[in-house]
Amino acid sequence: MSKTQVIAFANNKGGSGKTTTCSNVGCAMALSGKRVLLIDGDMQMNLTLSFFDEDRAMELAQSGRSLYEAVKKEDDLSDYIIPTQYEGLDIIPSSSLMSSIEFELFAKWQRELILKKCLERVRARGYYDYILIDAPPTLGGWVMNIMCASDSIIIPVEASPWGLFGLANLFDFFRQVKNIAPRLSVLGIAITKADERKNYFKQTREILSEMDSARLFDTYIRVDSAVEWAQDNSQPVVAYKKYSRSAIEYKKLAKEIMSYADR
Ligand SMILES: Nc1ncnc2c1ncn2[C@@H]1O[C@H](COP(=O)(O)OP(=O)(O)OP(=O)(O)O)[C@@H](O)[C@H]1O
Ligand SMILES: [Mg+2]
Repeated sequence: MSKTQVIAFANNKGGSGKTTTCSNVGCAMALSGKRVLLIDGDMQMNLTLSFFDEDRAMELAQSGRSLYEAVKKEDDLSDYIIPTQYEGLDIIPSSSLMSSIEFELFAKWQRELILKKCLERVRARGYYDYILIDAPPTLGGWVMNIMCASDSIIIPVEASPWGLFGLANLFDFFRQVKNIAPRLSVLGIAITKADERKNYFKQTREILSEMDSARLFDTYIRVDSAVEWAQDNSQPVVAYKKYSRSAIEYKKLAKEIMSYADR
């Protein structure tokens, strides 16, 4: 296994906490001294907006050096890396052009492996400890690319009545991807937006902890308005409000993830 671990945050269920988990786990890892590259794989640009205000995010998206152009041109991703304001934390921004990424991939040779090839040199250099990829809420050729480029996936699941809906499809899809990328694994499932007083939180936790196909991380993230304030200020909550409960939980989750990813 190479030194750099590539982890994708994926769930076809929208709003399950993929981007919030990816940005905060990545930032927490960097704050603990790791070198981390975040890759925004979603046309919604939410990961990019987690670090830059709208004007700067649009400027990056329109610079011709977003992930979309790299994939379209099958370029080495080294030239698309932008530093964030946090030491050890870099990002490859997205753009709304990502909406046509499936179309771009369609005519390419070995189209499931384009992102993996774009990442090859960054990975081989071994500079980053972790590369975290934020996936969009879909299952298709692009998410297949994201998974094929990764060592493992983390599945954020919202503790809500419909939170588990579609999870079976995600696992079916994952099994298909494993035919192309046999070493891909599920690192774990992370419960997000938990409200301990609610019954469906307990139910979600119980169902997920009994699943054979993936481990449930011990750490779960509770609902916390600080997450939204932080996002409104284009910062991850672990940096914006260090002592808020979600910041503490995200730092704990990052530690737990690193303890499994490094094995
Ligand atoms: N712990 C939390 N407490 C409160 N709100 C949260 C928390 N985590 C996420 N949210 C909010 O929930 C919404 C969805 O989160 P997020 O964007 O991370 O999900 P996602 O899975 O990336 O969504 P999409 O599928 O659209 O990409 C956001 O508005 C975010 O601010
Ligand atoms: Mg998202």
